[in-house]
Amino acid sequence: MQIEVLTGNLRAAPSDIAIIGQFEEGGSKEALSIDRTLKGTIQELRRSGEFSGKFMEFSLLHLFGKPVPRRLLLVGLGSQGRFDLERVRQIMGKAASRIREMALPSFSASLLGAGLVKLNVRDCAQAMAEGAILGTYRFTQFKTDPSEQKTEPREFRLVVDESLAAQVQRGVNRGRIIAEATNYARDLCNSPSNILTPSVLVREAEALATEFGLRLQVFERQELEQMGMGAFMGVARGTAEPPKLIVLEFDGAKRAGKPVALVGKSVTFDSGGISLKPAEKMEQMKYDMSGGAAVLGTIKAAAQLKLPVNLVGVLPATDNMPGGSAIHPGDVVKSLSGKTIEVINTDAEGRLCLADALTYVTRYNPSAVIDLATLTGACVVALGQHAIGLLTNNSKLAGQIHQAGEETGERTWELPLWPEYEEQIKSDVADLKNVGGRPAGTITAAAFLRHFTGDFPWVHLDIAGTAWNEQDRPYVPKGSTGIGVRLLIQFLTDYVRTSS
Ligand code: BES
Ligand code: ZN
Ligand code: ZN
Repeated sequence: MQIEVLTGNLRAAPSDIAIIGQFEEGGSKEALSIDRTLKGTIQELRRSGEFSGKFMEFSLLHLFGKPVPRRLLLVGLGSQGRFDLERVRQIMGKAASRIREMALPSFSASLLGAGLVKLNVRDCAQAMAEGAILGTYRFTQFKTDPSEQKTEPREFRLVVDESLAAQVQRGVNRGRIIAEATNYARDLCNSPSNILTPSVLVREAEALATEFGLRLQVFERQELEQMGMGAFMGVARGTAEPPKLIVLEFDGAKRAGKPVALVGKSVTFDSGGISLKPAEKMEQMKYDMSGGAAVLGTIKAAAQLKLPVNLVGVLPATDNMPGGSAIHPGDVVKSLSGKTIEVINTDAEGRLCLADALTYVTRYNPSAVIDLATLTGACVVALGQHAIGLLTNNSKLAGQIHQAGEETGERTWELPLWPEYEEQIKSDVADLKNVGGRPAGTITAAAFLRHFTGDFPWVHLDIAGTAWNEQDRPYVPKGSTGIGVRLLIQFLTDYVRTSS
């Protein structure tokens, strides 16, 4: 979708449909002037109670080209007091999705809430671009009917005052980059595991490396075994699909400084291994690489935005399968850190992959380590789909990430990592065991990971509940949510501002 910033009058901008926002308290001057040319239709709708400006209320008016545009989409903005960037994203997401369903090629809007509420102009433009691009996303790669592909609107014209155009353009650019990187992550996660193998993740990383001049290293099974990644390689033993460790570095900072390390769980399919999962919903386990997808999406957006930060992204990529040489429950593996792990349940594979990847990033002496993983079903039980589980050894870093969550709507909620939970992951035969029983499953998984992070400031994000959407939400269609990209970009943007 192209987004064009135009100056002048929304009424005069050619488009198939114009979005007009209305608060419960009333509309903008611009809406009033449009209503005059409609001989008070909007007023009449409001008087009759057919349209009240309630949040997410929609009403379609046909104007038959008199004046341009041909149609109006009246959208309720809710009360002015509750209006914020999340509401902007939601309204634009749903409006653009409706327009997609109507198969209209172009739409126009002015800045939502402008002149009536105080939102930063650049941020509002960014949120509008994000909402529109995220809301019209559909995964159509495997649909052979061409009509499925073509309905995405081609052109969004954002019509603003001359004096605001430069700021709006900056917001639109930023919003576009971030939303497209999120959709990129969504594509990776929605792709089935016979298509999106670890080798294909490597190809994706190569494409990013070429496009943005990033450093890329890829380690193969044999090298990983020699290196001593016994935990990660333990998981990979059951699959014929070659596992890969992908290490992608972005040097955005002017000075060579400590990088922020991003580690993403990249299990391209989680069958559970010998501790096989039940068949119901097993097909969804193609998104068990959502952490890795978020890391690739974040690096892509960071490179496009030229964020002044050094990043190292690490993806331990493998299928988790019950092949003939798969690890068995009770097996002991030796991790890269030297610590031994008793594998009680081969379905708790994510923490085995992450253990070695987390040890690996300590060689970069990182200023912060953030891992993202669809790690535990327990997190889905605890927080559902509305919050990322956050666990940490550093409250300052956690606070910064939490704040970015509030700003982006990719919200986090901290769970405690008290020493008492350690008891649950002590093994009788090895240093640690990979499951801690049913109580506090998300916490004991994080307690396990903490053994591999050194003393570096570290935040673990359990995205098991937030990476997949069962039902359409305003700017998050069914399927992969692409969670993490918007959160991390916001965090990194704030982080470089405060740490330089
Ligand atoms: N990938 C799953 C976690 C998951 C479950 C993600 C549901 C998304 C939705 C993970 O590898 C797993 O299987 N975890 C087990 C751990 C248990 C055996 C300790 C779980 O949560 O059941
Ligand atoms: Zn599993
Ligand atoms: Zn898994």
